[in-house]
Amino acid sequence: MSPGEKLDPIPDSFILQPPVFHPVVPYVTTIFGGLHAGKMVMLQGVVPLKAHRFQVDFQCGCSLCPRPDIAIHFNPRFHTTQPHVICNTLHRGCWGVEARWPRLSLQRGAAFLLLFLFGNEEVKVSVNGQHFLHYRYRLPLSRVDTLGIFGDILVKAVGFLNINPFAEGSQEYPVGHPFLLTSRRLEVPCSRALPRGLWPGQVIIVRGLVLQEPKDFTLSLRDEAARVPVTLRASFADRSLAWISPWGRKTPISAPFLFYPQRFFEVLLLCQEGGLKLALNGQGLGATSLGQQTLEQLRELRISGSVQLYCVHY
Ligand code: GAL
Repeated sequence: MSPGEKLDPIPDSFILQPPVFHPVVPYVTTIFGGLHAGKMVMLQGVVPLKAHRFQVDFQCGCSLCPRPDIAIHFNPRFHTTQPHVICNTLHRGCWGVEARWPRLSLQRGAAFLLLFLFGNEEVKVSVNGQHFLHYRYRLPLSRVDTLGIFGDILVKAVGFLNINPFAEGSQEYPVGHPFLLTSRRLEVPCSRALPRGLWPGQVIIVRGLVLQEPKDFTLSLRDEAARVPVTLRASFADRSLAWISPWGRKTPISAPFLFYPQRFFEVLLLCQEGGLKLALNGQGLGATSLGQQTLEQLRELRISGSVQLYCVHY
């Protein structure tokens, strides 16, 4: 870049925080850009056999003294006859009224996946894909900028994700797709069969990390005859993102280029009548047109290029 040249301004919310694997507990981290409605935090872990309790705190700051406010304290307790979760808020050093949820499906010795989904008024928490609780904010979510994990828990991965920006209303409970850490199925180039093609409402999610010194990233959809009706390509040389037609025609997607070396990315494709909608890092970036028949005849999703994949889901 020459000295006077300016980079496009990139809104903070576009930049995604990379997942953290096997952090040592107690673990405290800044949440890039803070929390806002539409964000999700996914926690994959194991409850040790002799676990007493652990806690996941969404904190307002990270000072040790005075103690920061904790907007959401999520505290599974295993030492009683009936394991349960306590949620509470710590404000100016004082705990509020405890909210208690029995019938916790987390078990000592078992792996789990927790998903915290932040809405406008409340956080919803699912345990192993099942909705478990919702807790109304008592402090503004905008104050939260730190995640703290303490107590008896082995953390495998923490992910900072976005909900599907195209889901209408807040009815839909998003599913957390775990990060697969060492799966051969995620080696690039990566191919997935789409036995029944794509149909309206179906979502493809690809999450991963851009490698150092990347060249390109390509996501293509192929049909039985190995035709490629649609390709999404990011070129790092000229920092461009485009749809590529079967004839090689490029339709540039005009948006800030969101792929950075060693940064996390989330590509979401929503199939709708007449085409595919694209969201990158939680932001809608328009659509590409494709006939229903073409969508139904797709049989393979292929991902290649300078990326490490954590999750490919459809
Ligand atoms: C207290 C406990 C705190 C916190 C709080 C939640 O009894 O010492 O760690 O869990 O309950 O209400």
